[in-house]
Amino acid sequence: MTGVQLKDLRKAYGGLEVIKGVDLTIDPKEFVVFVGPSGCGKSTLLRMIAGLEEITGGELTIGGERMNEVDPSERGIAMVFQSYALYPHMTVAENIGLSLKYAGHSRSAIAERVQAAAKTLALDHLLHRKPKDLSGGQRQRVAIGRAIVRNPKVFLFDEPLSNLDAELRVQMRIEIARLHKDLKATIIYVTHDQVEAMTLADKIVVLRDGRIEQVGAPLDLYDNPANQFVAGFIGSPRMNFIAATVEKGALVLPDMGGQRLPMPKLAAPLADGSTVTLGLRPEHFKAGGSANLDVSIEIVEHLGGESFAYARQGAAVMTIATDKGRDWQAGQKMTASFDPAKILLFDAQGQRIR
Ligand SMILES: Nc1ncnc2c1ncn2[C@@H]1O[C@H](COP(=O)(O)OP(=O)(O)O)[C@@H](O)[C@H]1O
Ligand SMILES: [Mg+2]
Repeated sequence: MTGVQLKDLRKAYGGLEVIKGVDLTIDPKEFVVFVGPSGCGKSTLLRMIAGLEEITGGELTIGGERMNEVDPSERGIAMVFQSYALYPHMTVAENIGLSLKYAGHSRSAIAERVQAAAKTLALDHLLHRKPKDLSGGQRQRVAIGRAIVRNPKVFLFDEPLSNLDAELRVQMRIEIARLHKDLKATIIYVTHDQVEAMTLADKIVVLRDGRIEQVGAPLDLYDNPANQFVAGFIGSPRMNFIAATVEKGALVLPDMGGQRLPMPKLAAPLADGSTVTLGLRPEHFKAGGSANLDVSIEIVEHLGGESFAYARQGAAVMTIATDKGRDWQAGQKMTASFDPAKILLFDAQGQRIR
Protein backbone atom coordinates (compact mmCIF):
# COMPACT_ATOMS: atom_id res chain seq x y z
CA MET A 1 0.00 0.00 0.00
CA THR A 2 1.49 3.24 -1.15
CA GLY A 3 1.05 6.78 0.05
CA VAL A 4 2.30 9.93 -1.63
CA GLN A 5 3.88 12.95 0.01
CA LEU A 6 4.42 16.42 -1.39
CA LYS A 7 6.79 18.66 0.56
CA ASP A 8 6.93 22.32 -0.43
CA LEU A 9 6.58 21.27 -4.07
CA ARG A 10 7.26 24.01 -6.60
CA LYS A 11 7.22 24.44 -10.36
CA ALA A 12 8.41 27.42 -12.36
CA TYR A 13 8.38 27.95 -16.11
CA GLY A 14 11.28 30.30 -16.65
CA GLY A 15 10.80 32.96 -13.98
CA LEU A 16 7.09 32.30 -13.58
CA GLU A 17 6.13 30.15 -10.60
CA VAL A 18 2.87 28.25 -11.20
CA ILE A 19 3.06 25.79 -8.26
CA LYS A 20 3.98 27.86 -5.24
CA GLY A 21 4.86 25.48 -2.44
CA VAL A 22 2.40 22.62 -1.94
CA ASP A 23 2.49 20.42 1.19
CA LEU A 24 0.23 17.40 1.16
CA THR A 25 0.07 13.86 2.51
CA ILE A 26 -1.96 11.30 0.59
CA ASP A 27 -2.58 8.14 2.57
CA PRO A 28 -2.45 4.63 1.09
CA LYS A 29 -5.77 3.67 -0.60
CA GLU A 30 -7.04 7.21 -0.30
CA PHE A 31 -9.08 8.80 -3.11
CA VAL A 32 -7.80 12.37 -3.29
CA VAL A 33 -9.31 14.94 -5.65
CA PHE A 34 -7.51 18.12 -6.75
CA VAL A 35 -10.17 20.68 -7.59
CA GLY A 36 -10.01 24.33 -8.58
CA PRO A 37 -10.70 26.73 -11.42
CA SER A 38 -9.07 26.37 -14.82
CA GLY A 39 -5.38 27.38 -14.76
CA CYS A 40 -4.89 26.94 -10.99
CA GLY A 41 -2.22 24.25 -11.48
CA LYS A 42 -4.10 20.95 -11.07
CA SER A 43 -2.66 19.26 -14.17
CA THR A 44 0.82 20.62 -13.54
CA LEU A 45 0.82 19.19 -10.01
CA LEU A 46 -0.44 15.81 -11.25
CA ARG A 47 2.14 15.73 -14.04
CA MET A 48 4.87 16.49 -11.51
CA ILE A 49 3.75 13.46 -9.49
CA ALA A 50 3.71 11.39 -12.70
CA GLY A 51 7.17 12.57 -13.71
CA LEU A 52 5.95 14.26 -16.89
CA GLU A 53 7.01 17.67 -15.55
CA GLU A 54 10.29 18.34 -13.85
CA ILE A 55 10.05 19.43 -10.21
CA THR A 56 11.65 22.84 -9.61
CA GLY A 57 11.68 22.75 -5.81
CA GLY A 58 10.67 20.65 -2.83
CA GLU A 59 10.38 16.88 -2.57
CA LEU A 60 8.02 14.20 -3.85
CA THR A 61 7.94 10.77 -2.23
CA ILE A 62 5.88 7.76 -3.28
CA GLY A 63 5.81 4.85 -0.83
CA GLY A 64 8.37 6.75 1.24
CA GLU A 65 10.95 6.96 -1.56
CA ARG A 66 12.14 10.20 -3.10
CA MET A 67 10.90 10.38 -6.69
CA ASN A 68 12.09 13.80 -7.93
CA GLU A 69 14.71 12.31 -10.27
CA VAL A 70 13.02 8.95 -10.94
CA ASP A 71 11.87 8.12 -14.49
CA PRO A 72 8.04 8.12 -14.95
CA SER A 73 8.11 4.42 -15.86
CA GLU A 74 9.80 3.59 -12.53
CA ARG A 75 7.39 5.46 -10.25
CA GLY A 76 4.72 2.73 -10.02
CA ILE A 77 2.03 5.05 -11.33
CA ALA A 78 -0.42 4.92 -14.24
CA MET A 79 -2.17 7.96 -15.65
CA VAL A 80 -5.54 8.35 -17.39
CA PHE A 81 -6.08 11.53 -19.42
CA GLN A 82 -9.13 13.43 -20.62
CA SER A 83 -8.35 12.45 -24.24
CA TYR A 84 -8.15 8.68 -24.23
CA ALA A 85 -5.81 8.42 -27.26
CA LEU A 86 -6.58 4.81 -28.19
CA TYR A 87 -4.89 3.23 -31.20
CA PRO A 88 -7.69 3.07 -33.81
CA HIS A 89 -6.28 0.07 -35.71
CA MET A 90 -6.01 -2.07 -32.56
CA THR A 91 -8.80 -3.97 -30.82
CA VAL A 92 -9.87 -3.17 -27.27
CA ALA A 93 -7.82 -6.14 -26.02
CA GLU A 94 -4.71 -4.99 -27.90
CA ASN A 95 -5.10 -1.42 -26.65
CA ILE A 96 -5.45 -2.57 -23.04
CA GLY A 97 -2.51 -5.00 -23.25
CA LEU A 98 -0.09 -2.85 -25.23
CA SER A 99 2.09 -1.71 -22.33
CA LEU A 100 2.45 -5.33 -21.16
CA LYS A 101 3.53 -6.37 -24.65
CA TYR A 102 6.19 -3.64 -24.67
CA ALA A 103 7.30 -4.79 -21.22
CA GLY A 104 7.90 -8.26 -22.69
CA HIS A 105 5.23 -10.25 -20.86
CA SER A 106 4.16 -13.61 -22.32
CA ARG A 107 1.10 -13.79 -24.52
CA SER A 108 -0.82 -15.87 -21.95
CA ALA A 109 0.08 -13.54 -19.06
CA ILE A 110 -1.11 -10.57 -21.11
CA ALA A 111 -4.37 -12.29 -22.02
CA GLU A 112 -5.02 -13.12 -18.39
CA ARG A 113 -4.47 -9.58 -17.12
CA VAL A 114 -6.42 -8.01 -19.98
CA GLN A 115 -9.29 -10.39 -19.26
CA ALA A 116 -9.28 -9.52 -15.54
CA ALA A 117 -9.22 -5.76 -16.23
CA ALA A 118 -11.96 -6.10 -18.84
CA LYS A 119 -14.12 -7.94 -16.35
CA THR A 120 -13.67 -5.21 -13.72
CA LEU A 121 -14.70 -2.61 -16.30
CA ALA A 122 -17.52 -4.63 -17.91
CA LEU A 123 -15.66 -4.63 -21.23
CA ASP A 124 -15.26 -8.40 -21.54
CA HIS A 125 -17.84 -8.66 -24.36
CA LEU A 126 -16.14 -5.85 -26.33
CA LEU A 127 -12.53 -7.08 -26.40
CA HIS A 128 -12.52 -7.69 -30.17
CA ARG A 129 -14.04 -4.35 -31.15
CA LYS A 130 -12.10 -1.41 -32.53
CA PRO A 131 -12.33 1.97 -30.73
CA LYS A 132 -14.50 3.49 -33.49
CA ASP A 133 -17.24 0.99 -32.62
CA LEU A 134 -17.36 2.03 -28.96
CA SER A 135 -19.28 4.77 -27.15
CA GLY A 136 -17.40 7.60 -25.42
CA GLY A 137 -17.88 5.97 -22.04
CA GLN A 138 -16.62 2.62 -23.32
CA ARG A 139 -13.53 4.27 -24.80
CA GLN A 140 -12.77 5.94 -21.50
CA ARG A 141 -13.15 2.53 -19.80
CA VAL A 142 -10.58 1.11 -22.23
CA ALA A 143 -8.22 3.93 -21.25
CA ILE A 144 -8.77 3.04 -17.59
CA GLY A 145 -8.18 -0.64 -18.46
CA ARG A 146 -4.82 0.30 -19.93
CA ALA A 147 -3.92 1.76 -16.53
CA ILE A 148 -5.31 -1.16 -14.51
CA VAL A 149 -3.26 -3.90 -16.28
CA ARG A 150 -0.07 -2.16 -15.28
CA ASN A 151 -1.04 -2.81 -11.68
CA PRO A 152 0.17 0.59 -10.52
CA LYS A 153 0.57 1.58 -6.90
CA VAL A 154 -1.03 4.94 -7.61
CA PHE A 155 -3.61 5.88 -10.26
CA LEU A 156 -3.56 9.43 -11.61
CA PHE A 157 -6.62 10.77 -13.42
CA ASP A 158 -6.69 14.14 -15.21
CA GLU A 159 -10.29 15.24 -15.91
CA PRO A 160 -11.15 11.79 -17.33
CA LEU A 161 -14.86 12.55 -17.68
CA SER A 162 -14.77 16.05 -19.15
CA ASN A 163 -15.35 14.86 -22.73
CA LEU A 164 -18.47 12.86 -21.86
CA ASP A 165 -22.04 14.12 -21.91
CA ALA A 166 -23.79 14.83 -18.62
CA GLU A 167 -25.63 11.54 -18.24
CA LEU A 168 -22.60 9.43 -19.07
CA ARG A 169 -20.49 11.49 -16.68
CA VAL A 170 -22.75 10.57 -13.77
CA GLN A 171 -22.62 6.90 -14.76
CA MET A 172 -18.82 6.86 -15.14
CA ARG A 173 -18.45 8.70 -11.85
CA ILE A 174 -20.24 5.86 -10.10
CA GLU A 175 -18.09 3.31 -11.97
CA ILE A 176 -14.91 5.07 -10.88
CA ALA A 177 -16.13 5.06 -7.27
CA ARG A 178 -16.83 1.33 -7.59
CA LEU A 179 -13.41 0.77 -9.16
CA HIS A 180 -11.76 2.44 -6.19
CA LYS A 181 -13.65 0.13 -3.83
CA ASP A 182 -12.65 -2.95 -5.85
CA LEU A 183 -9.00 -2.07 -6.50
CA LYS A 184 -8.32 -0.54 -3.09
CA ALA A 185 -5.71 1.60 -4.85
CA THR A 186 -4.45 5.07 -4.09
CA ILE A 187 -6.08 7.48 -6.55
CA ILE A 188 -5.28 11.11 -7.30
CA TYR A 189 -7.97 12.64 -9.46
CA VAL A 190 -8.04 16.10 -11.05
CA THR A 191 -11.26 17.91 -11.93
CA HIS A 192 -12.63 21.46 -12.18
CA ASP A 193 -16.07 20.09 -11.28
CA GLN A 194 -16.89 20.46 -7.59
CA VAL A 195 -19.71 17.90 -7.84
CA GLU A 196 -17.22 15.25 -9.03
CA ALA A 197 -14.92 16.24 -6.18
CA MET A 198 -17.70 16.06 -3.58
CA THR A 199 -18.98 12.69 -4.77
CA LEU A 200 -15.69 10.85 -5.36
CA ALA A 201 -13.19 12.12 -2.83
CA ASP A 202 -12.17 10.83 0.56
CA LYS A 203 -10.18 14.05 0.70
CA ILE A 204 -10.56 17.17 -1.44
CA VAL A 205 -7.65 19.51 -2.11
CA VAL A 206 -8.91 22.93 -3.23
CA LEU A 207 -6.27 24.72 -5.31
CA ARG A 208 -6.13 28.33 -6.39
CA ASP A 209 -3.36 30.04 -8.24
CA GLY A 210 -0.74 27.37 -7.47
CA ARG A 211 -1.50 27.12 -3.76
CA ILE A 212 -3.69 24.94 -1.54
CA GLU A 213 -6.65 26.86 -0.14
CA GLN A 214 -7.98 24.01 2.01
CA VAL A 215 -7.77 20.23 2.42
CA GLY A 216 -10.56 18.18 3.95
CA ALA A 217 -13.32 15.62 3.63
CA PRO A 218 -16.11 16.79 1.29
CA LEU A 219 -18.61 17.60 4.04
CA ASP A 220 -15.95 19.32 6.15
CA LEU A 221 -15.31 21.72 3.30
CA TYR A 222 -19.03 22.22 2.79
CA ASP A 223 -19.77 22.82 6.49
CA ASN A 224 -16.55 24.53 7.49
CA PRO A 225 -14.89 26.37 4.62
CA ALA A 226 -11.70 28.12 5.73
CA ASN A 227 -12.31 31.08 3.47
CA GLN A 228 -14.70 32.73 1.06
CA PHE A 229 -13.04 31.14 -1.98
CA VAL A 230 -13.69 27.58 -0.75
CA ALA A 231 -17.15 28.57 0.51
CA GLY A 232 -18.04 29.85 -2.96
CA PHE A 233 -16.40 27.01 -4.87
CA ILE A 234 -17.92 24.07 -2.99
CA GLY A 235 -21.71 23.68 -3.11
CA SER A 236 -24.31 24.14 -5.83
CA PRO A 237 -26.10 26.46 -6.22
CA ARG A 238 -23.34 28.70 -4.97
CA MET A 239 -23.30 30.24 -1.48
CA ASN A 240 -24.87 33.71 -1.22
CA PHE A 241 -22.50 36.50 -0.17
CA ILE A 242 -23.91 39.76 1.23
CA ALA A 243 -22.05 42.78 2.63
CA ALA A 244 -22.77 43.48 6.31
CA THR A 245 -21.77 45.95 9.02
CA VAL A 246 -21.60 45.16 12.72
CA GLU A 247 -23.85 47.41 14.81
CA LYS A 248 -24.62 46.86 18.51
CA GLY A 249 -24.06 43.11 18.28
CA ALA A 250 -26.22 42.69 15.18
CA LEU A 251 -25.51 42.50 11.45
CA VAL A 252 -26.87 45.33 9.32
CA LEU A 253 -27.14 44.80 5.56
CA PRO A 254 -26.61 48.15 3.78
CA ASP A 255 -27.29 46.62 0.32
CA MET A 256 -30.63 45.26 1.53
CA GLY A 257 -32.24 48.43 2.82
CA GLY A 258 -30.53 48.18 6.22
CA GLN A 259 -32.26 44.97 7.27
CA ARG A 260 -30.85 43.48 10.47
CA LEU A 261 -29.82 39.93 11.28
CA PRO A 262 -28.74 38.41 14.58
CA MET A 263 -25.02 37.77 15.01
CA PRO A 264 -23.89 34.13 14.86
CA LYS A 265 -21.79 32.92 17.81
CA LEU A 266 -18.14 33.89 17.40
CA ALA A 267 -15.03 33.17 19.45
CA ALA A 268 -14.50 36.92 19.97
CA PRO A 269 -17.10 39.66 19.40
CA LEU A 270 -16.55 41.97 16.42
CA ALA A 271 -16.11 45.69 17.02
CA ASP A 272 -18.99 47.99 16.12
CA GLY A 273 -18.55 49.37 12.62
CA SER A 274 -16.58 46.34 11.30
CA THR A 275 -17.50 45.42 7.76
CA VAL A 276 -17.77 41.73 6.92
CA THR A 277 -19.19 39.47 4.23
CA LEU A 278 -22.03 37.24 5.27
CA GLY A 279 -22.28 33.80 3.63
CA LEU A 280 -25.49 31.79 3.57
CA ARG A 281 -26.19 28.69 1.48
CA PRO A 282 -29.32 28.71 -0.72
CA GLU A 283 -30.55 25.47 0.87
CA HIS A 284 -30.28 26.87 4.39
CA PHE A 285 -33.41 28.99 3.99
CA LYS A 286 -36.13 27.12 5.89
CA ALA A 287 -39.56 28.15 7.13
CA GLY A 288 -39.57 28.70 10.87
CA GLY A 289 -35.97 30.00 11.21
CA SER A 290 -35.57 32.82 13.71
CA ALA A 291 -33.72 35.09 11.23
CA ASN A 292 -35.68 36.73 8.42
CA LEU A 293 -34.93 38.63 5.23
CA ASP A 294 -37.52 40.40 3.10
CA VAL A 295 -36.84 39.85 -0.60
CA SER A 296 -38.65 39.94 -3.93
CA ILE A 297 -38.38 37.01 -6.28
CA GLU A 298 -37.15 37.90 -9.76
CA ILE A 299 -36.90 34.53 -11.42
CA VAL A 300 -38.08 31.07 -10.40
CA GLU A 301 -36.69 27.73 -11.62
CA HIS A 302 -38.66 24.59 -10.88
CA LEU A 303 -36.58 21.44 -11.18
CA GLY A 304 -39.33 19.13 -9.97
CA GLY A 305 -37.81 17.87 -6.73
CA GLU A 306 -36.74 21.36 -5.72
CA SER A 307 -37.12 24.98 -6.79
CA PHE A 308 -34.66 27.85 -6.97
CA ALA A 309 -35.72 31.46 -6.48
CA TYR A 310 -33.38 34.24 -7.63
CA ALA A 311 -34.31 37.11 -5.37
CA ARG A 312 -33.24 40.71 -5.15
CA GLN A 313 -33.42 43.34 -2.46
CA GLY A 314 -31.70 46.66 -3.05
CA ALA A 315 -28.27 45.94 -4.54
CA ALA A 316 -28.11 42.37 -3.19
CA VAL A 317 -29.06 39.28 -5.16
CA MET A 318 -29.45 35.86 -3.66
CA THR A 319 -30.50 32.33 -4.46
CA ILE A 320 -33.00 30.48 -2.32
CA ALA A 321 -33.42 26.71 -2.77
CA THR A 322 -36.18 24.58 -1.32
CA ASP A 323 -38.34 21.54 -2.02
CA LYS A 324 -41.35 23.64 -0.92
CA GLY A 325 -41.25 26.36 -3.59
CA ARG A 326 -43.77 25.02 -6.10
CA ASP A 327 -46.07 28.02 -5.55
CA TRP A 328 -43.36 30.64 -5.97
CA GLN A 329 -44.07 33.28 -8.61
CA ALA A 330 -41.77 35.81 -10.24
CA GLY A 331 -42.50 39.28 -8.81
CA GLN A 332 -43.67 37.87 -5.48
CA LYS A 333 -42.45 39.44 -2.25
CA MET A 334 -41.58 37.09 0.57
CA THR A 335 -39.85 36.75 3.87
CA ALA A 336 -37.08 34.17 3.69
CA SER A 337 -36.28 32.57 7.05
CA PHE A 338 -33.27 30.68 8.27
CA ASP A 339 -31.43 29.56 11.35
CA PRO A 340 -28.88 32.32 12.20
CA ALA A 341 -26.41 29.61 13.28
CA LYS A 342 -26.01 28.85 9.55
CA ILE A 343 -24.51 32.29 8.86
CA LEU A 344 -20.79 32.28 7.99
CA LEU A 345 -18.75 35.47 8.20
CA PHE A 346 -15.66 36.43 6.22
CA ASP A 347 -13.27 39.34 6.71
CA ALA A 348 -12.09 41.80 4.05
CA GLN A 349 -9.35 39.32 2.99
CA GLY A 350 -11.94 36.57 2.58
CA GLN A 351 -10.75 34.65 5.66
CA ARG A 352 -13.38 33.00 7.78
CA ILE A 353 -14.24 34.73 11.09
CA ARG A 354 -15.04 31.97 13.58
N1 LIG B 1 4.54 24.63 -20.50
C1 LIG B 1 4.10 25.72 -19.85
N2 LIG B 1 4.75 26.90 -19.93
C2 LIG B 1 4.33 27.99 -19.25
N3 LIG B 1 3.25 28.01 -18.46
C3 LIG B 1 2.55 26.88 -18.35
C4 LIG B 1 2.92 25.67 -19.03
N4 LIG B 1 2.01 24.71 -18.69
C5 LIG B 1 1.13 25.28 -17.87
N5 LIG B 1 1.43 26.58 -17.66
C6 LIG B 1 0.69 27.53 -16.79
O1 LIG B 1 0.59 26.97 -15.52
C7 LIG B 1 -0.66 27.28 -14.92
C8 LIG B 1 -1.33 26.03 -14.46
O2 LIG B 1 -1.73 25.26 -15.58
P1 LIG B 1 -2.47 23.87 -15.43
O3 LIG B 1 -1.76 23.03 -14.44
O4 LIG B 1 -2.65 23.29 -16.79
O5 LIG B 1 -3.89 24.31 -14.83
P2 LIG B 1 -5.23 23.45 -14.61
O6 LIG B 1 -4.94 22.03 -14.95
O7 LIG B 1 -5.58 23.68 -13.17
O8 LIG B 1 -6.26 24.06 -15.51
C9 LIG B 1 -1.46 28.06 -15.97
O9 LIG B 1 -1.35 29.42 -15.68
C10 LIG B 1 -0.73 27.72 -17.25
O10 LIG B 1 -0.85 28.79 -18.17
MG1 LIG C 1 -5.80 20.74 -16.41
